[in-house]
Amino acid sequence: MKPIQVGLIGLGTVGAGTFNVLQRNQTEIRGRAGRGIEVAMVAARNAERAKAYQAIVGDGVPCTGEAQELVNNPAIDIVVELIGGIEPARTLVLQAIANGKHVVTANKALLALHGTEIFEAAREKGVVVAFEAAVAGGIPIIKALREGLTANRIEWIAGIINGTTNFILSEMRGKGLDFATVLKEAQRLGYAESDPTFDIEGVDAAHKLTIMSAIAFGVPVQFDKAHVEGISSLQATDIKYAEQLGYRIKLLGITRRRASSGSTPDGAQGIELRVHPTLIPATRLIANVEGAMNAVVVQADAVGTTLYYGKGAGAEPTASAVVADLVDVTRLATADPDHRVPHLAFQPDAMSDTPVLPM
Ligand code: HSE
Repeated sequence: MKPIQVGLIGLGTVGAGTFNVLQRNQTEIRGRAGRGIEVAMVAARNAERAKAYQAIVGDGVPCTGEAQELVNNPAIDIVVELIGGIEPARTLVLQAIANGKHVVTANKALLALHGTEIFEAAREKGVVVAFEAAVAGGIPIIKALREGLTANRIEWIAGIINGTTNFILSEMRGKGLDFATVLKEAQRLGYAESDPTFDIEGVDAAHKLTIMSAIAFGVPVQFDKAHVEGISSLQATDIKYAEQLGYRIKLLGITRRRASSGSTPDGAQGIELRVHPTLIPATRLIANVEGAMNAVVVQADAVGTTLYYGKGAGAEPTASAVVADLVDVTRLATADPDHRVPHLAFQPDAMSDTPVLPM
């Protein structure tokens, strides 16, 4: 069978990682997907960058500085969006969907802010939007929530879902360094977002939390309802005193069902979404997650507590999630090429009316 044709928008860290993993593991990937997965075209933000990309992918794969050319190319079956940010990513993703293409994206900000619009467009068109790489990089947490835990009623999720801030907190505690010095080091190592305020002010973690919450509780993605507090005002002494009292400070993203049993003054039920520095007893597993690693704890009614740990950023860890989505979408598109019924496991549940509560 002819390989499925993929258009890659963006060949930065994650895009290049995706290209490399697809090349290196092509035999295994072909076996698992049931057919080959071929990068048919690459798009860059402009012609100059397209030229640089051409040198990476070789002459066999056309590179364009016009991403519209890629999303409007009838030969492309799946568009992989790896440019990040809201625009032009939103327009390109919606255009790809309108053209009947499946989409794989690592863009957490886009889904946290415009997920409802994008999922709705995909639902109407009967295509899939897959986004494992948008949350916790290489940790297959979206798959775990949707598939592994699908028998459960999820009660809460708490996670270290920003590697930059965990690296900063670990280095401040372990080496007694100050915040500014460690931030510079995190930037040098390539952990931080292009705008590091997204990391240190908790915004990046809140994007990821919003997506997990939508999957776990079947609520719309509502980033604007999240309580977001970062680590920029923490000082070395806060970390030292926490340590003396037997605690570690971690930036946690927490989402949970809030029951009616008196936990709010008005007894409201709903979902909490919050990101803030949290004191955790030093004996807990999650308190010992150090460096730029991610970890997510999920509490669910049947299975109890499960913990997911791994690299939340970086070229190949994130590519691992992108390629896993490509394999899933390929299987689906191959099994049902005519009807293209979306596999519901990729979409948030039927949008419930459960409100996200203000903090
Ligand atoms: N800046 C992010 C982090 C990258 O530090 O976790 C991965 O989303």
